[in-house]
Amino acid sequence: MNERGVLRVFETPEQVAGAVAETFAATAERAASRRGRFAVALAGGTTPKAAYALLAEPPYRDRIPWDRTQVFFGDERCVPPDDDRSNYKMADDALLRRVALPPGNVHRMRGEDPPELAARAYAAELQATLGASPVFDLVLLGMGPDGHTASLFPGSDPHADEALLVRSVYVEKMQMERLTLTPSAINAARTVLIAVEGETKRAALTAVLTGPVDPIAYPIQSIRPAGELFWYADRAAAAGIAPKPIL
Ligand code: 6PG
Repeated sequence: MNERGVLRVFETPEQVAGAVAETFAATAERAASRRGRFAVALAGGTTPKAAYALLAEPPYRDRIPWDRTQVFFGDERCVPPDDDRSNYKMADDALLRRVALPPGNVHRMRGEDPPELAARAYAAELQATLGASPVFDLVLLGMGPDGHTASLFPGSDPHADEALLVRSVYVEKMQMERLTLTPSAINAARTVLIAVEGETKRAALTAVLTGPVDPIAYPIQSIRPAGELFWYADRAAAAGIAPKPIL
């Protein structure tokens, strides 16, 4: 393990999904037994869908203490929760509605509200649930082909407002307002797990893990948790990285 984390490479996306589900379940079991609660922030996008579907079925479903699990989100598009672009909707369809989570344990970013208001409200909900300095047991993230993660996109300084836990951001290239956890909120986590799949991510993953550190060009490089940082990649995404510990 070094400051860029530990990279595990899998032959196929299916194997990445299985490894994400296993890490999710093992982390949940450990957190619940040690601290009586499992606090997780889910990733959006498409990569995590397969892992969420595995978590909704045995054996993983039955390993996870859903009644002691608090579900948050790493980011959200500023759309209503029933919009097909909603990260909440994706996770709800694939997982949340299919397991025995108490409704009050799912903390949705309110994409339908004015962004600034929604960001402030989410930070307050985070602190009300996890304490003034919230610490996730697990934060799941993905990575875009441009090196963005959550809704931390290239060109904006990810560390701009360190004191904030949640911020709203207008993403020019997507012509969309979004809500996102800040690096401060993510980096307090005990474990961060980033899942990256596909040839379209290869160049960014190689640059992020082996090139110079430039968090404005590659915001995902601002993710340096106090705890563990794992990258789970399929062969297609990791082909540009020699199979040795990341130096
Ligand atoms: C989102 C995600 C975003 C995602 C990456 C990768 O709201 O889209 O939070 O950061 O993880 O864009 O997306 P894919 O998994 O779809 O490639």
